[in-house]
Amino acid sequence: MGMQVLLVGGGGREHALAWKIAQSPQVTKIWCAPGNPGIATLAECVPIQAEALDELVNFAVAKAIELVVIGPEAPLTLGLADLLRARGIAVFGPSKAAAQLEGSKAFMKDLLARHAIPTAAYQTFRAPEAAWQYIQEQGAPIVVKTSGLAAGKGAIVCATLDEARDALDRIMIQREFGAAGDEVVVEEFLRGEEASLLAFVDGERILPLAGAQDHKAIWDGDQGPNTGGMGAYSPAPALTDALVARAVDEIIRPTVRAMAEEGHPYRGILYAGLMIDGNTLKTLEYNVRFGDPECQPLLMRMRSDIVPLLLACATGSLENMAIDWDPRSALCVVMAAKGYPGSYPKGDPIHGLSQAAQLADTVVFHAGTRQAADQVVTAGGRVLGVTALGHGVAEAQRRAYEAVRLIDWDGVQFRRDIGYRAVAREQQAQG
Ligand code: AMP
Ligand code: GLY
Repeated sequence: MGMQVLLVGGGGREHALAWKIAQSPQVTKIWCAPGNPGIATLAECVPIQAEALDELVNFAVAKAIELVVIGPEAPLTLGLADLLRARGIAVFGPSKAAAQLEGSKAFMKDLLARHAIPTAAYQTFRAPEAAWQYIQEQGAPIVVKTSGLAAGKGAIVCATLDEARDALDRIMIQREFGAAGDEVVVEEFLRGEEASLLAFVDGERILPLAGAQDHKAIWDGDQGPNTGGMGAYSPAPALTDALVARAVDEIIRPTVRAMAEEGHPYRGILYAGLMIDGNTLKTLEYNVRFGDPECQPLLMRMRSDIVPLLLACATGSLENMAIDWDPRSALCVVMAAKGYPGSYPKGDPIHGLSQAAQLADTVVFHAGTRQAADQVVTAGGRVLGVTALGHGVAEAQRRAYEAVRLIDWDGVQFRRDIGYRAVAREQQAQG
């Protein structure tokens, strides 16, 4: 008999996960809490929020769910995986203690420092005066971050001391990020090119995924404030095989070992945000889940059945597993609502979804959407993740934007240059 899976979350990452899990011959039914209209074409959505832990556990028990896949960081940091494991249910995702790698930047930085894992020099503060003192001693550029979760918006890169004072003011005085800003991490500014290396981890063993890169800034040319991510692609030409091997040896493996040694074995996806500067490789951040939108291109390239991999992480049996990748590139363009990453309107009807759905090797993943009567409307900041495969990143880019051009709503915004660095590298390599 096939397996019933419960997927927790309702964004673009979860639509990509539902799309991939639905292709598994092992799965007969996918439930998703709360899901979205895109996910509803693949799974039965139930109106339980991703942070309603007790309701989720009761639901999983009542439906005899055999695997729970937790998409977002919030339920992980609240301890959903622990509650489900206590009921004997297999879970893809780390425990509450292990999720601190993302939930507390202070925890993450201190762990890396204790184990001499390369990362930017830093100090953590609970009082703005002491932080300001340190910032003045260090000088600009400098990075000021909330220690807690802030939907990808809590890291403020400051070019000047004035900007750093303003960042500190926003986080600690105006408390723009609430309790996430009770503690700040002030960090050395690192130069270089960022890349994301995600790995399946079963507590002990590590299976890296293909490389990926995302664009965090809201505007073209990587300008403007950071968002959760405006687009992503895989593979990442900047992340060569040699760099992947080094990232595993110097960063990911020592971190997984450190977590086990300190009594918080890590299970799930471990996402390392890396800064590459020539031969220097440093950890920018850890996320305890698939990146959003990196998940979308990664899963479009994954040929292997994902369900055995998710189960292997859940049950500590990743040995001898491998991933077969589509050699093509995949690229995702996020279409967002006007005003994002600030406040944005909701409820605008989205046009062109059925036309875009006709394109081959292209999937329009829903992120912030809602079904209203007979039409799909906007319901979040990041609304869609339009993702396409192509022979090379330039072709994937061209095809993704072909689909983007078919879709429209009042006030839509998207970057027009997703993948520009990779395209330039590809052109250079082709002479
Ligand atoms: P984080 O939430 O820590 O990943 O930071 C979000 C983004 O801020 C990163 O993806 C980088 O673009 C930028 N950033 C964070 N820390 C640094 C740093 N130490 N140096 C330069 N840029 C950084
Ligand atoms: N795209 C970056 C993240 O998911 O945190």
